[in-house]
Amino acid sequence: MSQHFDLLVINAKIVTASDKFQADIGVIDGKIAALGKNLGTATQIVDASGLLALPGGVDAHCHLDQPQDFGLRMADDFLSGSRSAACGGTTTIIPFAAQIKGQSLQAAVTDYHQRAQDKSCIDYAFHMIVSDPTPEVLKTELPRLIREGYTSFKVYMTYDDLKLNDRQILDVLDVARQEGALVMVHAENSDCIGWLTDRLVSEGKTTPQYHGVSRPQAVEREATHRAITFSELVDVPILIVHVSGREAIEQIRWAHGRGQRIYAETCPQYLYLTEDDLGHGDYDGAKCICSPPPRDRANQQVVWDGLQHNVFAVFSSDHAPFGYDDPHGKKLRGVEQKFHHIPNGIPGLETRLPLLFSGGVKEGRISIHQFVAVTSTQPAKLYGLYPRKGSLMVGSDADIALWDPDREVTIHNQMLHHNVDYTPYEGQTVTGWPVMTFSRGRLVAKNFEFLGQAGTGEFMSCGKPMLL
Ligand code: URP
Ligand code: ZN
Ligand code: ZN
Repeated sequence: MSQHFDLLVINAKIVTASDKFQADIGVIDGKIAALGKNLGTATQIVDASGLLALPGGVDAHCHLDQPQDFGLRMADDFLSGSRSAACGGTTTIIPFAAQIKGQSLQAAVTDYHQRAQDKSCIDYAFHMIVSDPTPEVLKTELPRLIREGYTSFKVYMTYDDLKLNDRQILDVLDVARQEGALVMVHAENSDCIGWLTDRLVSEGKTTPQYHGVSRPQAVEREATHRAITFSELVDVPILIVHVSGREAIEQIRWAHGRGQRIYAETCPQYLYLTEDDLGHGDYDGAKCICSPPPRDRANQQVVWDGLQHNVFAVFSSDHAPFGYDDPHGKKLRGVEQKFHHIPNGIPGLETRLPLLFSGGVKEGRISIHQFVAVTSTQPAKLYGLYPRKGSLMVGSDADIALWDPDREVTIHNQMLHHNVDYTPYEGQTVTGWPVMTFSRGRLVAKNFEFLGQAGTGEFMSCGKPMLL
């Protein structure tokens, strides 16, 4: 029976985490209503011949408009961040609602809703950051918020204003076990970093390159092992975020070998940047300061191997946007600022997918199905958004990225849509680019041009994690 659609994407080669097939996509009211051939008529027809139709990306780790201390300000709010994501083929973002110590979790969530609504042009959900697990938070607020659809939250093992001690992490994990939530862990040993930092500073070693020296792999390995142990003791799955190299990966593989449910995430910076990008005494290296820091080429290879062998469930940007030439960003105290006072984080919402597509799929390291799995399907499952997000199925949201798999693009900051004055990937040439992005059937980006509208993105409350 012939139907009338709002949108028909015809002649697409559809790729999901498991399948590849030729079909037309019929969209009604923002949802995929039919997949097949000769489906009917439509108000808008898009011919996708020669293009791949992939589920829009789900970027499950990004920081937008997160309040900062000491005059710092994130360069991206929910409009510029979501715009940039859309232009890079991402249709769902899951930023963080960060609890400030002393604040209730509910206040943090309410604050972030205000920051996002009327701004985000693609759909979004929130992870919470639990920085102050008071008895009230553990007994009342956290269980209630989980039931209301905030089913994942991050805990930090480092950063003075965010970190929890071991006992507090165990308490938080226990709530996650009781309520069926997923805890994301930033695994770096705070005291080791503090001790190494003090030693470096006392020796006058304060330029950005020492950021990496103050956070060697051993501090990430130890914390990763400790988090895995906590997961075992409490008997709850966890997800280790932004894994940077061999030593943490060895711990995760070890846990997998023992049958533990430890999920892991990595990010483009651990595939494309190295410690050399932190500079050799010059301040420019501040651009690439993030934690854990980028390692070396051998470690990049181990991260690629981890992607190839499905050690990683999720590939996120960890977009944490601070301007470089910016008195509210990387140059808060000018270029004399010591490395441990430089805000951590790099931009990456728009470049996440092309970098992995190019280095991974085009260079034969991972299959296109693995690409879809780690960038869309698996984050949607783990964070309770599947099957609304993360696949192209009848009934799913019509979040579609049409990719030209052969398009060669040299990345320059001026073509990106974030509000940051640099990209760490300046001059990097990639093959493959999402040339059209649809968010619930609306064309939000085409050929590097943003066509969306502030405020059209919807907040999604998340279901329980669908464990892989
Ligand atoms: O350096 C980073 N990764 N900054 C963002 C905050 C975090 O820990 O994810
Ligand atoms: Zn982190
Ligand atoms: Zn982060």
